[in-house]
Amino acid sequence: ANQYPLHTLGVIALSLSLLTPAHAASLTRDNGAVVGDNQHSQTAGPNGPVLLQDVQLIQKLQRFDRERIPERVVHARGAGAYGTFEASADISALTRAKVFAKGSKTPVFVRFSTVIHGLHSPETLRDPRGFATKFYTSEGNWDLVGNNLPVFFIRDAIKFPDMVHSLKPSPETNLQDPNRFFDFFAHQPEATHMLTRLYSDYGIPKGYQYMDGNSVHAWKLVNAQGRYVYVKFHWASRQGQHNLTMQQAAAIQAQDFNHASRELIKAIKHKQYPQWDLYLQVMQPEDMAKLDYNPLDATKIWSGVPEQKVGTMTLNRLPANIFQETEQSAFAPSNLVPGIEPSEDRLLQGRIFAYADTQLHRVGSNGLQLPVNRPLVAVDNNNQDGAMNGGQRQGGVNYEPSRQGSLQQDASARYSQLPLSGSTQQAGISKTLNFRQAGEFYRSLNKQEQANLIANLAADLGRVRNEATRNTMLSYFYKADSGYGQAISKALNANVGEIAKLAAQLHE
Ligand code: HEM
Repeated sequence: ANQYPLHTLGVIALSLSLLTPAHAASLTRDNGAVVGDNQHSQTAGPNGPVLLQDVQLIQKLQRFDRERIPERVVHARGAGAYGTFEASADISALTRAKVFAKGSKTPVFVRFSTVIHGLHSPETLRDPRGFATKFYTSEGNWDLVGNNLPVFFIRDAIKFPDMVHSLKPSPETNLQDPNRFFDFFAHQPEATHMLTRLYSDYGIPKGYQYMDGNSVHAWKLVNAQGRYVYVKFHWASRQGQHNLTMQQAAAIQAQDFNHASRELIKAIKHKQYPQWDLYLQVMQPEDMAKLDYNPLDATKIWSGVPEQKVGTMTLNRLPANIFQETEQSAFAPSNLVPGIEPSEDRLLQGRIFAYADTQLHRVGSNGLQLPVNRPLVAVDNNNQDGAMNGGQRQGGVNYEPSRQGSLQQDASARYSQLPLSGSTQQAGISKTLNFRQAGEFYRSLNKQEQANLIANLAADLGRVRNEATRNTMLSYFYKADSGYGQAISKALNANVGEIAKLAAQLHE
């Protein structure tokens, strides 16, 4: 530094001060002014009360009092990482979305999560795991908000709040209670498939790297001609799928209830970057009605439909600040780009509304301006103002249409068109097929895995006091596969003949 004359150093210091907070090395208050004493409150003499005029004390307490934002109503506990998605196949015949242009690389942010319990709950619990990916594409952000398990408990969004209430801790005791959630699920035979997967060893993945991700829902890919196909997305872990038994999870939890976040951080710090291949299943609209189940039902997998690989994701960077990035990240199934659209799946249609809505409350009306949520492309809309507005490009013309030159719509980004007929209704789907895929999954497990499933289920179902609830649940598992139903019934000392009778009365 001594090669520069003193006045030049002054200019450098001044220009730096415009870029960085004043007195970067000094502790400051929120207005940038240096703090004189951070150890002692200002008092009236040695024995008098503390003074309200001590701005540092008051501001420090005020800011501390406001450190929390509402936690996510579900999926509160999570871990995030950045990386890249590289598209490897030419699927331009299926979609015009540039994120899938062969060879293109798109930055991503992924947040893995558990679902039911709070922000600092154990990561060893039996729970679906969230697998949410934000693609910062050249056409805006696309969020693929999926889970590790490929199906869901229910098929209509109107049931989601009830289901979550039953699974969350009781408002009376603050304890999660199988008496409550099996009371709910005994009225939802369509949950049999998801419950069977959840109570299998897949219900406790060994860590976030060791699980697959699934869109669960069908989405639509739309090509440049406006023609669409239905697709399901599947992230296949290159680390392999590894799970924990109930006993292994308990042993880990006794030592560490953050093992999944810790493993992810360790792997990335040691440059063992986790990777997933992205696969697509494709269904033509004209083939949908031929199936004996409804392919837009989130309780179903598309068994027998081949998968094609479309790319690979590598996670290689950790967030620098958990609150700013992981906590304030806002993933929404409504964050879509041209060429990717929602299907008519009734559960998905509710999600299209719910995420953006909760985020207006949780992160605020300008939450998408935060660095982790901001698209790489310019955001030019006529939305304005709101709390915490960090500034968007705005001219005088904040409306459209106008003769004074306003932002223009682009017809190439119009939604695809769905042919419709009939009248509005409130009715369930016709091809429910509630049990068959649960049975198929049960039979795909080896003997040990089946035994673990029975033990896991019996442990929770055995705590249910209401006999009708217990027997109804047993009849669902029996209907899925009689061997499966018999095994759990025996584990619970239930009357197998009685359960078989109940199962015989159930519709597929
Ligand atoms: C998070 C609602 C079904 C995966 C959330 C959040 C809400 C919500 C309100 C909190 C979002 C936030 O605060 O940022 C719903 C509703 C559903 C539903 C209403 C059904 C109608 C599903 C399904 C999946 C899923 C089927 C998987 C395919 C996720 C994930 C997150 C999440 C991964 C966490 C995203 C993150 O890491 O920030 N859900 N959900 N949800 N949901 Fe759902």
